[in-house]
Amino acid sequence: MAELAMDDLMFRPGLMKGQRILITGGGTGLGKVMAEGCLMLGAEVYICGRRGGVVDAAAKDLTDAHGGKCVGLACDIRVPEAIAEMVDTVWADGGAITGLVNNAAGNFISRTEDLSPRGFDAIANIVFRGSFFVTQECGKRWLAEGKHASVVSILTTWVWHGGPFTVPSAMSKAGLNVMTQSLAVEWGNRGIRFNAIAPGPFPTEGAWARLNPGAGTESEAKDPTVPLDRNGEMRELANLAVYLLDPGSAYVNGQTIAIDGGSHLRGGGGFNRLAAWGDAEWEAARDSIRSTNEKDRAQRTV
Ligand code: HXC
Ligand code: NAP
Repeated sequence: MAELAMDDLMFRPGLMKGQRILITGGGTGLGKVMAEGCLMLGAEVYICGRRGGVVDAAAKDLTDAHGGKCVGLACDIRVPEAIAEMVDTVWADGGAITGLVNNAAGNFISRTEDLSPRGFDAIANIVFRGSFFVTQECGKRWLAEGKHASVVSILTTWVWHGGPFTVPSAMSKAGLNVMTQSLAVEWGNRGIRFNAIAPGPFPTEGAWARLNPGAGTESEAKDPTVPLDRNGEMRELANLAVYLLDPGSAYVNGQTIAIDGGSHLRGGGGFNRLAAWGDAEWEAARDSIRSTNEKDRAQRTV
């Protein structure tokens, strides 16, 4: 089902007319809603995934709802030759794309000691290697043709504070964070800029099935780990992606922007548990700290 109405977007209609955007993993979840936002604003959109039926259905769904051009492409980004073929197809269909969203990913929770080499590769080959090869295939063409473009990679806030129980994903996303920073400098003066989005919790079927197995996507509309006390809304992510893809943000380069209601700041402080304290606990803590201070003071010799 299509997700957005024009009122959900903060941009003028037609903003992205003339733009051509490729979104990996655009047949579901966050990729699909970013595709929808771009399509609604007039861009031509290409979405890829391994399940041809899913991307085709998503493209139909979106064009039925909003008109315009959205094309589904079956492609496994773990296979460099398949990427080259897909990118050729897109270029042949109307020339260079103006924006790429590295959104495709795989993930599951697992104790790290339980991961097999194939389990590690299942994640790293999509996120770390696959996203690089898609970026490189597009980049080679942009550079050869002297075209300007914007690349937006979808990361997680784990790039800043790690991701226990999701280590292959956290490591791979951290690699893409460094790719973003590196290529922002290497290719910036040739008109290709790189930014990234680090979403907090946005309940999607794909993510929740692997990260909160057994829980429905509706089960956590309120999230106590998020300072704003809620999950992200799809339109909020779509607006940020459009901003970074559009030349209106042309001076933003090499940045990773969190859209997480502030949750990585709470996690980063390491004092999450204090949120559950009431007056009694704070009083006991204050007394305990005071008594330690007094003991220390009594021992001072200067
Ligand atoms: C341990 C597991 C496992 C699990 C799979 N494996 N699931 N190991 N715990 N839960 C191991 C398998 O045993 C196997 O190793 C290896 O991984 C490959 O498994 P396959 O099923 O053959 O893999 P494949 O078909 O390639 O599927 C890839 C996948 C799958 C990543 C495992 O989940 C997938 O297709 N995901 C795409 C969608 C997705 O994950 N979306 C969520 C994105 S959310 P052995 O050695 O046994 O052969 C996200 C961040 C969210 O990224 C952040 C929220 C805040
Ligand atoms: P999702 O619906 O499962 O999206 C993942 C997409 O990637 C699927 O469409 C999948 O399609 C595609 N994909 C996976 N492997 C691929 C491959 N080898 N080649 C091509 N496409 C592939 O999950 P989501 O929640 O929307 O996640 C989208 C992005 O947001 C991911 O990068 C994820 O890490 C990030 N993210 C999500 C959240 C969240 O809360 N949802 C939070 C932080 C970051 P196929 O299976 O058909 O290939």
